[in-house]
Amino acid sequence: MKEYVTLKNGLKMPRLGMGMWYIGEESTKARGEYEAIRMGIDAGLKLIDTAEMYGMGRSESFVGRAIKNYDRSSLFLVSKVLPSNAGRNHIRSSLEHSLRRLETDYLDLYLYHWIGETPFPEVVESMERFVEEGIIRSWGVSNFDTEDMIELVEHSGGENCVVNQVLYHLGSRGIEYDLLPYLKDKNIFPMSYCPLAQGGSLSRGILQDETVQKIARNHNLSPSQVLLAFVLANEDMIAIPRSSSAKHMLENAAVRNTALSQEELALLNKAFPAPDHKVPLDMC
Ligand SMILES: NC(=O)c1ccc[n+]([C@@H]2O[C@H](COP(=O)([O-])OP(=O)(O)OC[C@H]3O[C@@H](n4cnc5c(N)ncnc54)[C@H](OP(=O)(O)O)[C@@H]3O)[C@@H](O)[C@H]2O)c1
Repeated sequence: MKEYVTLKNGLKMPRLGMGMWYIGEESTKARGEYEAIRMGIDAGLKLIDTAEMYGMGRSESFVGRAIKNYDRSSLFLVSKVLPSNAGRNHIRSSLEHSLRRLETDYLDLYLYHWIGETPFPEVVESMERFVEEGIIRSWGVSNFDTEDMIELVEHSGGENCVVNQVLYHLGSRGIEYDLLPYLKDKNIFPMSYCPLAQGGSLSRGILQDETVQKIARNHNLSPSQVLLAFVLANEDMIAIPRSSSAKHMLENAAVRNTALSQEELALLNKAFPAPDHKVPLDMC
């Protein structure tokens, strides 16, 4: 698998990492979650995706503690600003709180979590300033559909957006119709959230599906690993599966050594076709 993408500012971003939604929220689970995140980093998952929203900062604090003994420059840290904090009067304070909780002095990537009331130029202006100051190395957006991306890129500085993080998994392929081609054209990388369809729950029966199961058996993988391998088969795609289990984290890291064949991808396409028309952006 191609391990990195190179963003338009030259920064190398790992294609496979870990998501941190719900992680660090319950003290009874903390021990297992620490083990999982450390095993994941040691197995090569250096990209960590969190947000000020997750557990109202508890996810970022958890990540900050878990990465303490790692070389910061070997990690790629992503966090997100809530729409309600994205205006010029709040965003700096949000970012500073995220940095403090993560115990770092910069983010590799800062995302505008979803569209709120702040005009795009105002968000862009703040993001660009943070890049100039070196407190973030790049910025992007999340949950932006094609029309939103077109509007963003039209504004001065909007073309410096490097990533759009959106829901994408084998059972939800609407972005393939027009969003992925648009992002490719603008050299903006798609980042898949919910790549495992939230353990299958977002797409009933997907892990039990005959084709998924057959491909899993062929490669000695689990059905969840097949879902992840499908997402990563697109060499532009970045994916951040979440796991609170060390076993699952290692299984996810191991998908880097798997390549689905063209025949297998064709079988998955047949079982879970991408829509041939525009569908609303899926979100969760
Ligand atoms: N930008 C946004 O609006 C947005 C929205 C949603 C999510 N996200 C980001 O994307 C990340 C991933 O999405 P997600 O957390 O919603 O869902 P996900 O990664 O699709 O699925 C997580 C579920 O899959 C299970 N799992 C993980 N690895 C597995 C494996 N190898 N085998 C079997 N089950 C496995 C986990 O259970 P275990 O814990 O038991 O392993 C968990 O229940 C989030 O954590 C977050 O960082 C962003």
